[in-house]
Amino acid sequence: MSKHFYITTAIDYANGAPHLGHAYEKVLTDIVARFRRLQGDSVKFVTGLDEHGQKVQMSAQKQGVEPQAFCDGHAAVFQGLCERLEITNDDYIRTTEPRHKKVVCEILQTLFDQGLIYKADYNGYYSQRQEQFVTEKEKVDGKWPEIFGEVEEVVETNYFFKLAQYQDWLVETIEQNTEIIYPRFRSADVLQFLKKEPLNDLCISRPKSRLEWGIELPFDSGYVTYVWFDALTNYITAAGYGTDEFEKNWPADYHVIGKDILVPPHAVYWPIMLKALNLELPKHFLVHGWWLSSGAKMSKSTGEVVDPLDLIEQFGTDAFRYFVTREMNVGQDSEFSIELFMSRYNSDLANDLGNLVSRLLNMASRYSEGKVPGASVDEQPEQDLKGLWQKTQGELIPLFEGFQFHKALERIFTFISGINKYAETRAPWKLAKSEAPEDQAKLQTSLAYMAEALRLGVVMLTPVMPAISDKVRGLVGADNFDRLEGQLEWGNTLEGKTLGEKTILFPRPEKN
Ligand code: MSP
Repeated sequence: MSKHFYITTAIDYANGAPHLGHAYEKVLTDIVARFRRLQGDSVKFVTGLDEHGQKVQMSAQKQGVEPQAFCDGHAAVFQGLCERLEITNDDYIRTTEPRHKKVVCEILQTLFDQGLIYKADYNGYYSQRQEQFVTEKEKVDGKWPEIFGEVEEVVETNYFFKLAQYQDWLVETIEQNTEIIYPRFRSADVLQFLKKEPLNDLCISRPKSRLEWGIELPFDSGYVTYVWFDALTNYITAAGYGTDEFEKNWPADYHVIGKDILVPPHAVYWPIMLKALNLELPKHFLVHGWWLSSGAKMSKSTGEVVDPLDLIEQFGTDAFRYFVTREMNVGQDSEFSIELFMSRYNSDLANDLGNLVSRLLNMASRYSEGKVPGASVDEQPEQDLKGLWQKTQGELIPLFEGFQFHKALERIFTFISGINKYAETRAPWKLAKSEAPEDQAKLQTSLAYMAEALRLGVVMLTPVMPAISDKVRGLVGADNFDRLEGQLEWGNTLEGKTLGEKTILFPRPEKN
């Protein structure tokens, strides 16, 4: 049944260049969005940029530019990456936009008027890197963990949001709603955090004397809003909070995020903010793992990063999308290496899929006047190939629905290997040497089967490799489609269609 489906990514920090982790999250979300559209849903897919906060202010200062100009530069780079990745987002939200500032001010004022925000003195520690207050309890062996960077002692008057009073409600909500976090084991991390000790109220302001680059509090012009409070609100701004659109979009179906930002921002602050505002919680969080390099999280601050644009430049967008989807089991971590990338490119894409397409086009131009012939033979090799497809077909939709994209791709490429094996068994190039009618019938059948199997093989590649799937469909004479319905059935709709010109789908990269 067709439904409205609202899906978001995290919004990226505007203080560094995009890397593989940022690109992956967008591809993952895009695959879900494309899959849902093919299932007939009306999808709203939003991604964007998180532009306020100390890190951005400091990076801009270092470069001697105004923070807004600094963010504009980053927005262009991140949006450019989305285009190169063929991401089909319907909106791109930037937290410096007036529509967003308006919503942040509105909800701050609402919470303030309800007595859920109060002013108090704070005496403690502050981590610049995490842009948050930290407590002695967070020390490990008497030292601040590396992720906090430099920690300074501060004495400040600030505004606090009454988070603590919602702790029991949140524990109960997460315990009861076992489907809210995917993969499920991550709920345990959240509950562990929540049950460890009483929550502190959340400091939601920063004095302008320390940080100017933020959204001014509507009830005190001496302060700006804490960056996470500002950033999380993007999800309702983009959903049209305060307009008629909101009812259609909210609650979000999925917030797609990395595991590092589940606890506490998404699983603690965000549900409590929504509850305090009397809004429904998002239906699900889809929490992915990290791309690692040499065993550590790939990140600008900790070292080696992979520039997705370099890989796209060399191997193409679809190969990049294929690799990150094939190698990452959603929810787990995955190590990146160029050797693995090359091996997937050469063996799965160039050899198994690319060569199969070339082979078919080549043979069709020689033996069937470039057209898809009719199939008249139905023997063991044909039955085996159809049987393999029946098995594969039954598995694909459930795997897509369960975010098991790596397994879905593995099944699709097993089927593609099956088509190659079928070609070896039938050996049309040998059959072509015989004039016997039964050999001619087998020859024509084998070309028809290869074309139909290829059409089917790329249907579920569409959300992952949209351009290649369209291209293969065009080459075997199949039409494009915008609904999955009926596309996965074995048939003979291609008979008589003209095949395309021979082409190399996955060229050997120039420098390697
Ligand atoms: N600005 C915050 C998110 C605010 S959402 C209301 C932020 N930005 S980020 O740029 O650091 O990260 C953006 C997304 O990329 C996060 O979901 C994060 O988990 C993801 N990744 C960043 N590095 C990553 C890897 N090395 N691997 C996979 N994804 C990771 O957090």
